[in-house]
Order: sequence, then C-alpha cells, then structure tokens
Amino acid sequence: MNFHILTLFPDMVMQGLSTSIIGRAKDKGLLSIEAVNIRDYTLERHKKVDDYPYGGGAGMLMQAQPVYDAWKSVVDRIGYKPRTVYLTPQGPTFTQPMAKDLAQAKDLILLCGHYEGIDERVLEEIVTDYVSIGDYVLTGGELPAMVMVDAISRMVPGVLTNDESGSTESFEGNLLEYPQYSRPEEWMGKKVPSILLSGDHKKVDEWRREQAILRTIKRRPDLLKKAELTKKEQMKYQEYL
Ligand code: ADE
Repeated sequence: MNFHILTLFPDMVMQGLSTSIIGRAKDKGLLSIEAVNIRDYTLERHKKVDDYPYGGGAGMLMQAQPVYDAWKSVVDRIGYKPRTVYLTPQGPTFTQPMAKDLAQAKDLILLCGHYEGIDERVLEEIVTDYVSIGDYVLTGGELPAMVMVDAISRMVPGVLTNDESGSTESFEGNLLEYPQYSRPEEWMGKKVPSILLSGDHKKVDEWRREQAILRTIKRRPDLLKKAELTKKEQMKYQEYL
C-alpha cells in the first residue's frame, strides 16, 4: 500500500513514521510512505502558500493552487485518482472499520491542512473523504495523518507478524480486549488469575470472553450496544444493553 501525504511539514510525518512496526513494514516493501511538500508547488515568488480569507476573519487560509498542484503531481505519477482524505475536525470520527476499509486501497492521499483551513474550491475538486480523529482541534493535520497511516497500515496483510493479533484485539466485535498477564506469577503481591495457569484452553477462552464484556461495560458502555453477543450473553448482560 502506498501513502502520499500532502503537507507543509514533511519531516514531521516522515520521522514519525520511520520506526517500529511501520518502519519495518516499509523496509519489507509492504508499505511506502511519501511526504509531498505543498510548498514546493507554489508559483508565488516568496514560496508563500497562504493568504487572507475573503470576507475577513481571523487567520490565513492555504491557497488552492499549491494544494491542487501537489495533489495533481501524485495523480499524474500513479496514473489514476485515488481516494483523497482531508484531515479535519469537520468529518466523521475515524474508527477501526474505517481503517480496515481504507487498508483495501492501493494508494491513499492524505491532505494535511494548516492555518485556518484550505480554500473550499480545491477541497471540492480533490477530496473524496473528510475524516476527523476526534472532537478536539489540533494545529494541523499531520498528527491525524500519522494516526491514520498507523491504524491503516496494521490492517495491511503481513504488517503484523502474528496473524492472530489483528483479530482478537480491542474493537473486534465492538468489545475491548481482555486483561493480559506475563511473568512473574506474582508481582507486588498481585497474583495472575489462576485460570490462566490451568492449561484448560476452553476455560481460558470463556474467562477472556467474560472479561472482555465486563471491561467493555465498565470502560466503554456505549460500545456494548453494538457488540456481537450470543443470545445467552444478551440475557446475562441485559441491563447494560
Ligand atoms: N485537524 C485539526 N484537528 C483535527 C482533528 N481533530 N482531526 C483531524 N484533523 C484535524
């Protein structure tokens, strides 16, 4: 999968996405990530990319031309118009199903805004998806773009080593993940739940399932309504549904 990030801060995104699992996946050739510097596409003498909004108001806007030309350079190079995501608080909130869906794409363009936003006309021309990472306002779209690249990349086959790890984790079936324990068996007087040492895989699975449900009830009661529960579980946890 190929990510193309349109940004005024290419170093920020490239540094943030060069290490750990994402860095390893890049080295393996499973992913490519490029930052396209919007400033390189300005036709303005002083390399300016922003200007005052018509009608007045606070702050500066990113102008249409450099954004469009940066986008067009990617489209011309890859030979088609891929989905183009504009990171903005004015979009639906990014979720795990969205990450899975976007991971099907071969190419994805992520457009990072700055200042007070971007001239509406270029957004109308190039953006296919508006996405927010949560109801708060950041100084730019770079951190949201990095969040999206990370979440999408780990859904790309081969990026995670253990085949399992993508399916038993938080948000699968809209349940949070069960608690986990490693050695030692006792730490600061706290013992690992004995069932996990029993060797009875069926019992362990049942316990984990129950813990996942109880944890979701406690920490994310809003999720439980969307969770995939058996008839029996629906009865048992009726009062929380
Ligand atoms: N740009 C600024 N704030 C943002 C947010 N919460 N999500 C996505 N893009 C943003």
